[in-house]
Amino acid sequence: ETTSNFARRLVRWQREHGRHGLPWQVREPYAVWLSEIMLQQTQVATVLDYYPRFLAAFPDVAALAAADEDAVLVLWAGLGYYSRARNLHAAAKQVVHNFGGEFPDTRVELETLKGVGRSTAAAIAAFAFGRREAILDGNVKRVLCRVFAQDGEAGNKKFEAELWRLAESLLPEAEDMTAYTQGLMDLGALVCKRGKPDCAACPMAETCLAKQQGRIAELPRRKAA
Ligand code: ADE
Repeated sequence: ETTSNFARRLVRWQREHGRHGLPWQVREPYAVWLSEIMLQQTQVATVLDYYPRFLAAFPDVAALAAADEDAVLVLWAGLGYYSRARNLHAAAKQVVHNFGGEFPDTRVELETLKGVGRSTAAAIAAFAFGRREAILDGNVKRVLCRVFAQDGEAGNKKFEAELWRLAESLLPEAEDMTAYTQGLMDLGALVCKRGKPDCAACPMAETCLAKQQGRIAELPRRKAA
Protein backbone atom coordinates (compact mmCIF):
# COMPACT_ATOMS: atom_id res chain seq x y z
CA GLU A 1 0.00 0.00 0.00
CA THR A 2 1.51 3.31 -1.03
CA THR A 3 0.67 6.29 1.13
CA SER A 4 -0.99 8.32 -1.60
CA ASN A 5 -3.14 5.31 -2.46
CA PHE A 6 -4.43 5.13 1.10
CA ALA A 7 -5.51 8.78 1.08
CA ARG A 8 -6.99 8.54 -2.41
CA ARG A 9 -9.09 5.49 -1.55
CA LEU A 10 -10.19 6.96 1.76
CA VAL A 11 -11.25 10.30 0.28
CA ARG A 12 -13.22 8.61 -2.50
CA TRP A 13 -14.89 6.28 0.02
CA GLN A 14 -15.76 9.12 2.39
CA ARG A 15 -17.42 11.14 -0.37
CA GLU A 16 -19.57 8.15 -1.39
CA HIS A 17 -20.13 6.21 1.85
CA GLY A 18 -19.03 8.41 4.75
CA ARG A 19 -21.13 10.55 7.07
CA HIS A 20 -22.49 13.78 5.61
CA GLY A 21 -24.87 16.42 6.90
CA LEU A 22 -23.68 16.32 10.51
CA PRO A 23 -24.32 19.79 11.98
CA TRP A 24 -20.64 20.34 12.82
CA GLN A 25 -19.46 19.66 9.24
CA VAL A 26 -18.83 23.36 8.73
CA ARG A 27 -15.74 25.60 8.50
CA GLU A 28 -16.63 27.84 11.47
CA PRO A 29 -13.82 27.16 13.99
CA TYR A 30 -16.02 27.71 17.05
CA ALA A 31 -18.62 25.20 15.83
CA VAL A 32 -15.89 22.68 14.92
CA TRP A 33 -14.05 23.08 18.23
CA LEU A 34 -17.24 22.68 20.27
CA SER A 35 -18.16 19.48 18.42
CA GLU A 36 -14.69 17.97 18.76
CA ILE A 37 -14.69 18.53 22.53
CA MET A 38 -18.16 16.97 22.87
CA LEU A 39 -17.17 14.03 20.63
CA GLN A 40 -13.99 13.28 22.61
CA GLN A 41 -15.86 11.09 25.07
CA THR A 42 -19.48 11.09 23.91
CA GLN A 43 -21.16 9.22 21.04
CA VAL A 44 -22.38 11.01 17.93
CA ALA A 45 -26.07 10.22 18.67
CA THR A 46 -25.86 11.88 22.09
CA VAL A 47 -23.90 14.87 20.82
CA LEU A 48 -26.52 15.42 18.09
CA ASP A 49 -29.02 15.95 20.91
CA TYR A 50 -26.92 18.44 22.96
CA TYR A 51 -24.93 20.30 20.33
CA PRO A 52 -27.74 22.46 18.83
CA ARG A 53 -28.98 23.56 22.25
CA PHE A 54 -25.49 24.50 23.36
CA LEU A 55 -24.87 26.47 20.16
CA ALA A 56 -28.22 28.23 20.51
CA ALA A 57 -27.38 29.31 24.07
CA PHE A 58 -23.78 30.27 23.23
CA PRO A 59 -23.70 31.13 19.52
CA ASP A 60 -20.09 32.29 19.44
CA VAL A 61 -16.91 32.19 21.46
CA ALA A 62 -17.50 35.65 22.97
CA ALA A 63 -20.90 34.56 24.31
CA LEU A 64 -19.40 31.42 25.82
CA ALA A 65 -16.49 33.33 27.37
CA ALA A 66 -18.90 35.83 28.97
CA ALA A 67 -21.27 33.16 30.33
CA ASP A 68 -21.52 32.07 33.95
CA GLU A 69 -19.78 28.76 34.52
CA ASP A 70 -22.98 27.42 36.06
CA ALA A 71 -24.93 28.17 32.89
CA VAL A 72 -22.32 26.27 30.87
CA LEU A 73 -22.47 23.30 33.23
CA VAL A 74 -26.28 23.22 33.08
CA LEU A 75 -26.19 22.87 29.28
CA TRP A 76 -23.45 20.27 29.55
CA ALA A 77 -25.41 18.19 32.07
CA GLY A 78 -25.88 14.69 30.65
CA LEU A 79 -22.72 14.68 28.53
CA GLY A 80 -20.56 13.68 31.48
CA TYR A 81 -16.86 14.29 32.08
CA TYR A 82 -17.54 17.79 33.42
CA SER A 83 -13.89 18.82 33.39
CA ARG A 84 -14.49 19.12 29.64
CA ALA A 85 -17.11 21.83 30.26
CA ARG A 86 -14.82 23.74 32.64
CA ASN A 87 -11.93 23.51 30.14
CA LEU A 88 -14.29 24.60 27.37
CA HIS A 89 -15.24 27.72 29.28
CA ALA A 90 -11.60 28.47 30.13
CA ALA A 91 -10.56 27.94 26.49
CA ALA A 92 -13.24 30.38 25.29
CA LYS A 93 -11.72 32.98 27.61
CA GLN A 94 -8.26 32.16 26.24
CA VAL A 95 -9.49 32.76 22.68
CA VAL A 96 -10.96 36.12 23.70
CA HIS A 97 -8.00 37.27 25.79
CA ASN A 98 -5.00 35.69 24.05
CA PHE A 99 -6.16 35.60 20.42
CA GLY A 100 -8.38 38.69 20.10
CA GLY A 101 -11.56 36.62 19.90
CA GLU A 102 -10.48 34.71 16.76
CA PHE A 103 -9.55 31.06 16.91
CA PRO A 104 -5.90 30.51 15.97
CA ASP A 105 -5.48 28.69 12.65
CA THR A 106 -2.50 26.47 13.41
CA ARG A 107 -2.41 23.12 15.19
CA VAL A 108 0.36 24.25 17.54
CA GLU A 109 -1.56 27.37 18.68
CA LEU A 110 -4.80 25.39 19.01
CA GLU A 111 -2.94 23.02 21.36
CA THR A 112 -2.44 25.90 23.82
CA LEU A 113 -6.21 25.88 24.50
CA LYS A 114 -7.39 24.06 27.61
CA GLY A 115 -8.82 20.65 26.80
CA VAL A 116 -7.34 20.59 23.30
CA GLY A 117 -4.69 17.89 22.79
CA ARG A 118 -2.71 17.16 19.66
CA SER A 119 -5.34 15.09 17.86
CA THR A 120 -8.23 17.45 18.67
CA ALA A 121 -6.10 20.43 17.59
CA ALA A 122 -5.29 18.64 14.33
CA ALA A 123 -8.98 17.88 13.70
CA ILE A 124 -9.91 21.55 14.18
CA ALA A 125 -6.98 22.69 12.02
CA ALA A 126 -8.03 20.28 9.24
CA PHE A 127 -11.79 20.86 9.33
CA ALA A 128 -11.84 24.61 9.95
CA PHE A 129 -8.67 25.67 8.12
CA GLY A 130 -7.84 22.86 5.68
CA ARG A 131 -4.47 22.38 7.36
CA ARG A 132 -2.42 19.25 6.57
CA GLU A 133 -2.35 17.94 10.16
CA ALA A 134 -2.75 14.30 11.22
CA ILE A 135 -5.33 13.10 13.72
CA LEU A 136 -4.66 10.02 15.85
CA ASP A 137 -7.48 9.07 18.21
CA GLY A 138 -8.38 5.55 19.32
CA ASN A 139 -10.36 4.75 16.17
CA VAL A 140 -7.63 6.02 13.87
CA LYS A 141 -4.94 4.04 15.71
CA ARG A 142 -6.98 0.89 15.16
CA VAL A 143 -7.35 1.59 11.43
CA LEU A 144 -3.62 2.29 10.96
CA CYS A 145 -2.50 -0.69 13.07
CA ARG A 146 -4.60 -2.97 10.88
CA VAL A 147 -4.07 -1.53 7.39
CA PHE A 148 -0.30 -1.26 7.94
CA ALA A 149 0.08 -4.27 10.31
CA GLN A 150 1.62 -2.17 13.07
CA ASP A 151 2.06 -4.50 16.01
CA GLY A 152 3.57 -2.30 18.67
CA GLU A 153 1.93 -2.14 22.05
CA ALA A 154 -0.68 0.48 22.93
CA GLY A 155 0.76 3.16 25.19
CA ASN A 156 4.39 2.47 24.30
CA LYS A 157 6.05 5.87 23.73
CA LYS A 158 8.22 4.85 20.76
CA PHE A 159 5.31 3.06 19.14
CA GLU A 160 2.99 6.04 19.61
CA ALA A 161 5.63 8.26 17.97
CA GLU A 162 5.84 5.82 15.05
CA LEU A 163 2.08 5.93 14.60
CA TRP A 164 2.15 9.74 14.53
CA ARG A 165 4.87 9.60 11.87
CA LEU A 166 2.85 7.09 9.86
CA ALA A 167 -0.30 9.21 10.18
CA GLU A 168 1.59 12.29 8.96
CA SER A 169 3.09 10.41 6.01
CA LEU A 170 -0.38 9.54 4.70
CA LEU A 171 -1.91 13.02 4.42
CA PRO A 172 -3.42 14.15 1.12
CA GLU A 173 -3.31 17.63 -0.42
CA ALA A 174 -4.96 20.42 1.57
CA GLU A 175 -8.07 20.45 -0.62
CA ASP A 176 -8.85 16.87 0.43
CA MET A 177 -8.15 17.25 4.16
CA THR A 178 -11.79 17.57 5.22
CA ALA A 179 -12.94 14.42 3.44
CA TYR A 180 -9.76 12.58 4.47
CA THR A 181 -10.01 13.44 8.17
CA GLN A 182 -13.73 12.71 8.31
CA GLY A 183 -13.05 9.51 6.34
CA LEU A 184 -10.59 8.25 8.96
CA MET A 185 -13.17 8.90 11.69
CA ASP A 186 -15.96 7.30 9.65
CA LEU A 187 -13.93 4.24 8.69
CA GLY A 188 -12.97 3.61 12.31
CA ALA A 189 -16.49 4.16 13.65
CA LEU A 190 -18.55 2.44 10.94
CA VAL A 191 -16.35 -0.23 9.28
CA CYS A 192 -13.03 -1.00 10.99
CA LYS A 193 -14.74 -1.58 14.31
CA ARG A 194 -13.06 -3.05 17.36
CA GLY A 195 -15.09 -6.19 17.83
CA LYS A 196 -16.46 -7.08 14.42
CA PRO A 197 -14.91 -5.17 11.56
CA ASP A 198 -16.96 -5.15 8.35
CA CYS A 199 -14.09 -5.91 5.95
CA ALA A 200 -16.58 -6.55 3.11
CA ALA A 201 -17.48 -2.84 3.21
CA CYS A 202 -13.90 -1.56 3.61
CA PRO A 203 -12.20 0.49 0.89
CA MET A 204 -8.84 -0.87 2.16
CA ALA A 205 -9.83 -4.56 2.09
CA GLU A 206 -7.55 -5.43 -0.87
CA THR A 207 -4.51 -3.77 0.63
CA CYS A 208 -5.04 -4.22 4.38
CA LEU A 209 -1.96 -6.03 5.74
CA ALA A 210 -3.73 -7.32 8.86
CA LYS A 211 -6.41 -8.87 6.65
CA GLN A 212 -3.81 -10.40 4.33
CA GLN A 213 -1.96 -11.82 7.32
CA GLY A 214 -5.11 -13.07 9.08
CA ARG A 215 -4.34 -10.81 12.07
CA ILE A 216 -7.44 -8.59 12.20
CA ALA A 217 -8.46 -10.00 15.58
CA GLU A 218 -5.01 -9.48 17.15
CA LEU A 219 -4.41 -5.91 15.92
CA PRO A 220 -4.13 -3.43 17.44
CA ARG A 221 -2.20 -5.20 20.21
CA ARG A 222 -3.48 -4.41 23.68
CA LYS A 223 -1.28 -3.24 26.47
CA ALA A 224 0.34 -6.09 28.40
CA ALA A 225 -1.31 -6.53 31.81
N1 ADE B 1 -15.59 12.04 16.48
C1 ADE B 1 -14.71 13.02 16.66
N2 ADE B 1 -14.86 13.97 15.72
C2 ADE B 1 -15.87 13.57 14.92
C3 ADE B 1 -16.50 14.11 13.79
N3 ADE B 1 -16.09 15.27 13.27
N4 ADE B 1 -17.51 13.42 13.22
C4 ADE B 1 -17.89 12.25 13.75
N5 ADE B 1 -17.34 11.69 14.81
C5 ADE B 1 -16.34 12.34 15.41
